[in-house]
Amino acid sequence: MSDPSFIPLLGNVGHIMKGIGWHLLKACEELISKMNSSLVVYLHCRVIDDGPLSLYKKAGYSIIKTDNILVWLRLQQRKHLMFKELAPNTLNFDDQPNE
Ligand SMILES: CC(C)(COP(=O)(O)OP(=O)(O)OC[C@H]1O[C@@H](n2cnc3c(N)ncnc32)[C@H](O)[C@@H]1OP(=O)(O)O)[C@@H](O)C(=O)NCCC(=O)NCCS
Repeated sequence: MSDPSFIPLLGNVGHIMKGIGWHLLKACEELISKMNSSLVVYLHCRVIDDGPLSLYKKAGYSIIKTDNILVWLRLQQRKHLMFKELAPNTLNFDDQPNE
């Protein structure tokens, strides 16, 4: 990894990979909206996962419940329960995270 010829390649991969999480989430929402008559989506996100939490908030998900610290007694991580109501006919696969 100390070979400098790797650096431009890794830089490009990092740039190409940017936005994958956002587009995967949008693709899931599109699929859910086609498969279900209900347009409400619920998901769990671990409290320690700052990256995913930021992604979900940016995509319009709200926290409706957070696990109590007592879940540690069951050797579990604390999680947020999040939800979003998908707007019919406004899902656009090409939405960008910073638009
Ligand atoms: C979380 C994850 C899915 C994000 O995917 P990604 O392709 O890196 O994210 P994107 O480039 O699409 O970013 C979209 C938005 O998510 C948020 N985000 C993504 N990674 C972030 C990080 N490390 N810290 C803070 N916010 C982050 C930002 O708001 C970002 O918008 P911006 O680029 O305008 O700032 C990815 O990093 C991942 O797979 N992580 C490890 C596994 C994991 O944690 N899975 C989820 C379990 S709930």
